[in-house]
Amino acid sequence: MKKQITLLSGDGIGPEIMESAKEVLQVIAEEFNHDFIFHEHAIGGNAVDAYGEPLPEETLKAAEEGDAILLGAVGGPKWENHPVYQRPEQGLLKIRKSLGLFANLRPIKLIPALIHASPLKEEIVAASDIVIIRELTGGLYFGKPSERRDNGNSVVDTLSYERYEMERIIEKGFETALSRRKHLTSVDKANVLESSRMWREIVEEKAKKYPEVTVEHVLVDAAAMKLITNPASFDTIVTENLFGDILSDEASVITGSLGMLPSASVREDGLGLYEPIHGSAPDIAGKGIANPLGMILSASFMLRDSFGLEVEANAMEQAVNEALEQGYHTADLDVKDGTLVSTKEMTDVVIGSLSARSISDDICYM
Ligand code: NAD
Ligand code: IPM
Ligand code: MN
Repeated sequence: MKKQITLLSGDGIGPEIMESAKEVLQVIAEEFNHDFIFHEHAIGGNAVDAYGEPLPEETLKAAEEGDAILLGAVGGPKWENHPVYQRPEQGLLKIRKSLGLFANLRPIKLIPALIHASPLKEEIVAASDIVIIRELTGGLYFGKPSERRDNGNSVVDTLSYERYEMERIIEKGFETALSRRKHLTSVDKANVLESSRMWREIVEEKAKKYPEVTVEHVLVDAAAMKLITNPASFDTIVTENLFGDILSDEASVITGSLGMLPSASVREDGLGLYEPIHGSAPDIAGKGIANPLGMILSASFMLRDSFGLEVEANAMEQAVNEALEQGYHTADLDVKDGTLVSTKEMTDVVIGSLSARSISDDICYM
């Protein structure tokens, strides 16, 4: 299979973890006889430096034309005081909006080897298997242009949604729940926000179309609490943009580290942008110690969901599991009696597991 993959490494640890994902994908391509062609483009702070804007036109064009997009992370202290249009994060928001990637899928599944890596008790995290379906192109992030008024003493951000925007993400929530354990938790703040009351109405309407799915409404503050006291009570969560952003970073604690979680941002026709949920981690950038697994798992997510390469995606995920079972871990993971490794070493261990797997397959075939 021949695929054109747009690589947007971004800033901070972005290029370090992207290198890992690229190396692992190259091994997959060799072993399974695929042709992955990588096209690297600028986004975020490095694009501001080189082009004066965080999402150059040529990057957007390449992203639209390729078969799938892999993104590292954007942002960092260097650009913190730039005007809004030159902030790295605006590049990320713009690519999501311009490509219409309205649904962000954030699976949170405990890898058994990391059961002790979470600060939460083993019996609490043990059965966690959740997917957060986060609305990605509306809400507070995309309201009327935010503004400061009255000499900077007053400020406005606007939370606005169109009905169709809520309908399509809520549908995605039901469809996802249907393909899983058929339980949907809709998270909102309907006791305060009008937008949440409309959201709840739409969830109730859609529920009639999905009688097999049990639906529960949970207010976001309570959901934040339940997520770490009883994560096993969740299956599929559907929620608006900002709530989904916050809850998914919180949920990463279940898996042992923010560095473990992948995500997919998709639209109806299947074009997908795959990225870890974490940011550019300026505090560890350049040290070669970042956890590459969220990025590698984002690449396997791409293989499965955009290219239909189930066997290859499973092989990659299996290799990640094996590396962790052998006790290898980066510094963000609190693994007792394990082997602390760098980003590059972790990548090599994953590649080693992948290669060992294909050698044992060869032996089986002989
Ligand atoms: P962050 O996610 O970058 O980091 C939070 C903490 O988690 C840090 O201590 C960091 O070292 C650690 N961490 C994150 N990823 C890690 C990994 N792979 N391995 C090991 N440790 C990891 O969040 P932040 O510090 O609040 O934000 C830093 C910058 O990243 C900001 O500019 C922010 O806007 C940006 N950001 C970008 C994205 C994105 O591009 N998708 C997402 C979140 C934040
Ligand atoms: C994420 C990030 C982004 C978001 C920022 C950097 C705009 O936190 O992808 O989770 O809030 O969506
Ligand atoms: Mn976030």
